[in-house]
Amino acid sequence: MGVDKAVIPAAGMGTRFLPATKATPKEMLPVVDTPAIQYVVEEAVAAGLDDLLFVTGRNKRALEDHFDRNLELEEVLAEKGDDARLRLVERSSDLARIHYVRQGQPLGLGHAVLMSRHHVGPQPFAVLLGDDLIDPRDPILPRMIDVRERLGGSVLCLMEVPREQISLYGCAAVEATGEPGVVRVTDLVEKPPVESAPSSLAVIGRYVLDPAIFEILADTPPGRGGEIQLTDALQRLCHPGVPGGGVHGVLFTGRRYDTGDRLSYLQAVIQLALEREDLGGPLRAWLMGRLGLPGGE
Ligand code: G1P
Repeated sequence: MGVDKAVIPAAGMGTRFLPATKATPKEMLPVVDTPAIQYVVEEAVAAGLDDLLFVTGRNKRALEDHFDRNLELEEVLAEKGDDARLRLVERSSDLARIHYVRQGQPLGLGHAVLMSRHHVGPQPFAVLLGDDLIDPRDPILPRMIDVRERLGGSVLCLMEVPREQISLYGCAAVEATGEPGVVRVTDLVEKPPVESAPSSLAVIGRYVLDPAIFEILADTPPGRGGEIQLTDALQRLCHPGVPGGGVHGVLFTGRRYDTGDRLSYLQAVIQLALEREDLGGPLRAWLMGRLGLPGGE
């Protein structure tokens, strides 16, 4: 069975961005001029996933509105003849079929994924986490889907990170498969202390999962931070003999931006703005000026 559904957990409280996230979901924070979540939706759509399920919490209203039509605004822009902005407004509502389910209680990422069980059914599916933005010039999901289709099981996106950062991520122990860039995952641990981490390969927020994960998630006790961890369920899928076809990892070496905390979010905004045709030049000159570099304003 092919992969055509994507699950996008978006129920987090966004406490790192308070007070901005008091009444606005953190997924709606703009990266330059586009909500972070729209980059993720566009990535899923570009990978051929046209059925998206958001797992939301109490904050879903702005998300739903963003991916819905706004007829009043469309009319105003059409009357003004502002076609460029009209296209921008129409685009987010035309991207994909988007469905919503509420998580109810914030019991962790594993629990959020479990909420998608009914919608996904007995087929493999993708999970995309909104804090990780993957540069569209370095797509990784199509490669992960290809590995799932050839080797079965579940597929993770793994990225080498500086050793001292591994405790911010799920961490994978792996062995070679003979195929460049594809490894077999033999063990996983959620946010291990640096000293005991089995590698410096971090799990990045893109997953292609076998539906066997649901049975395991339903039976996964709370782990790190008292939350039901997706990593813990995947760790059980790695064990030989557990139904689900094992776990592979695809090594990602492309450009990724983290919008999960304030510093990396600001870096992502600046990096992406520098690359924009309309903003890059003047922003670069201004930044160089602020830093006292020659050529700055
Ligand atoms: C989640 C996962 C973690 C993964 C990370 C990727 O953690 O639990 O395994 O490495 O996403 O961004 P979070 O960053 O949501 O705490």
